Amino acid sequence: MEIPASGIDFHLMRSIALFNQKGGVGKTTTAVNLGAALADEKKRVILIDMDPQGNLSFHLGLEPSNIHHSTYQVLTQGVSIKQALHPLSDYLSVVPAVSDLAGAEVELVNESRREHRLADAWKQESVTADFIIIDCPPSLGLLTLNSLCLATEVMIPLQAHFLALQGMARLLETCSLVKDRLNQKLAISAILFCQYESAPRLTGEVTEEVENFIESARGSDTPWAHARVLQTRIRRNIKLAEAPSYSQSIFAYAPNSAGSADYGVLAQEILEMKPGR
Ligand SMILES: Nc1ncnc2c1ncn2[C@@H]1O[C@H](COP(=O)(O)OP(=O)(O)OP(=O)(O)O)[C@@H](O)[C@H]1O
Ligand SMILES: [Mg+2]
Repeated sequence: MEIPASGIDFHLMRSIALFNQKGGVGKTTTAVNLGAALADEKKRVILIDMDPQGNLSFHLGLEPSNIHHSTYQVLTQGVSIKQALHPLSDYLSVVPAVSDLAGAEVELVNESRREHRLADAWKQESVTADFIIIDCPPSLGLLTLNSLCLATEVMIPLQAHFLALQGMARLLETCSLVKDRLNQKLAISAILFCQYESAPRLTGEVTEEVENFIESARGSDTPWAHARVLQTRIRRNIKLAEAPSYSQSIFAYAPNSAGSADYGVLAQEILEMKPGR
């Protein structure tokens, strides 16, 4: 099914940004493995690497020397998403990032529609997908704003330890500002606990605190009014940390691991979700 070139048809497509300005929480691991799981379900998935670290691109085996068009060119040189797409399989493709992307923040600062560059790129040519999954950098700058302008759903990966909620206020405030000023369709749809360890008492306390916070926003006009704390918990699993070195998803690298089981279940939960509700 073609998406009209005149605009993004969000009825046909779910666009999910993995967002948390805190580093090392599981954004990239989730982007890669959720993307792979959805592609296994025969959903057409486009992964977009918006992090100058390029961890997602590396995880997928893309060498910077083989990347001619990346998110940097899309944002700064008018290259279309289609031109920058690198197919990985029938259902999975990636728009990769290289370290040049760090310069885009400065280059775009005085440009018009600087926050909409990524979303505008979608409108240039028809691109079809069931899911766009955007891997945000651990910051709140222009690269993140561009990600949030293309997304309709924000998924927040979180670690259940005592610093987990630190920074949440700024994260939520950023989403509110984007929704008010740049992208009315933005909603925080899901909170995902990653690197989860069920044993420590603290895990239970943090999980409960997050659930209570989300419940207290029901009926409000905040972007997280319909968010849900996902039932699926991604357990800490060493295989998930090893897989990037082999340029493989967890399903290819360790199909019988806890990580593989958890991301498989996550994909089912995401498929069952009604976006924004
Ligand atoms: N469930 C898990 N079990 C074990 N290791 C994990 C798990 N999830 C992620 N990791 C590892 O933790 C590190 C951080 O994960 P990841 O890169 O996904 O976080 P991130 O939020 O994308 O980080 P950044 O903010 O730097 O982009 C990586 O080395 C990754 O392999
Ligand atoms: Mg990352």
